[in-house]
Amino acid sequence: MSLQVEHLTVYYQTLRGDVQALEDATFTIEDGEIMGLAGESGCGKTTLGHSLIRLVPPMRYVRGKVKIDSEELPIWGMEEMNPFRFKKISIIPQYAMNAMNPTRKIGKMTEELLESRKVSFSDTLPELKRRLDMVELTHDVMNMYPIELSGGMKQRMVMVLSTLMDPTLLIADEITSALDVSTQKAVAEMLVEFRNRECCNSVMLITHDLSILYQIADTIMVMYAGQLSEKAATHTMIHSPRHPYTKLLISSLPKVGVKYAEKRLKGIPGSPPLLLDPPIGCRFRERCPVAFDKCLDVPPFLEIEKDHLVACWKEFERDA
Ligand SMILES: Nc1ncnc2c1ncn2[C@@H]1O[C@H](COP(=O)(O)OP(=O)(O)O)[C@@H](O)[C@H]1O
Ligand code: SF4
Ligand SMILES: [Mg+2]
Repeated sequence: MSLQVEHLTVYYQTLRGDVQALEDATFTIEDGEIMGLAGESGCGKTTLGHSLIRLVPPMRYVRGKVKIDSEELPIWGMEEMNPFRFKKISIIPQYAMNAMNPTRKIGKMTEELLESRKVSFSDTLPELKRRLDMVELTHDVMNMYPIELSGGMKQRMVMVLSTLMDPTLLIADEITSALDVSTQKAVAEMLVEFRNRECCNSVMLITHDLSILYQIADTIMVMYAGQLSEKAATHTMIHSPRHPYTKLLISSLPKVGVKYAEKRLKGIPGSPPLLLDPPIGCRFRERCPVAFDKCLDVPPFLEIEKDHLVACWKEFERDA
């Protein structure tokens, strides 16, 4: 098992109080698994991804445990996490490709990045070149400035850099969102190639675009308002979702290629609750067509079939 998360709870400290962005998340990612993390904008996907690697203020660790290859990660400590970052767990943050320093050549930037992680640039160079070949980037990119690279080239460069140390887990946050459709597909396929060639063991692919997950993810996990709703194999999730929110999310998916964040969910009035003062119990309660009195308690995230987890009282009742 690559990643084990237990009861992870992370808030943002603000002047108006705590934004309860991630509440009691318990799940695993198996060796080799590409897990897609989905849900509407603001549901806590980035919070979950970042809290596993760089939990900085105003993010606040509240409780929970994270293990990578059975070893506990000190996610609450910036310093303590240094030996794990980049080597065991690595992230491609949202907009990473646009955050490259425009005044540094790619090679220089790479050297600085490796040195900051106490990795020798010259020792790593042969492997770096091999990986540039793998993603079909010429070695000349090392002498180029970021502005000379296309979006797809930059994203491939970022992918090479973030997986150079063969991390156990690669977290990729919206890496296809800023790209055109054909480049999206190429980048997504490259991610699979990285996993297949063991440049990383497993992947958490965060996206609001379910069609990308349908193409490449082994499993999908859906969140709503800071709570996990459902996790299942991709085929199961798309064809037989069980959680009322996931069902609406999937049924509102018009055609492959249309991003659901751009569509309003059909059939459910209202919008996700504010996480400064979320409703008690199941946070989907106020919009859920089948809510009942039990839903005032938080539903646990339970396995209802093999490798199919759901947090919904109605589903538990149905199975009982
Ligand atoms: N720096 C911050 N300070 C306060 N609240 C934040 C901060 N960053 C994110 N949030 C809130 O946390 C919640 C989850 O955000 P996020 O994890 O970015 O969602 P997603 O990635 O799914 O769009 C949202 O309600 C968002 O407004
Ligand atoms: S727990 Fe209750 S409110 Fe939440 S999704 Fe299930 S039925 Fe709806
Ligand atoms: Mg996000």
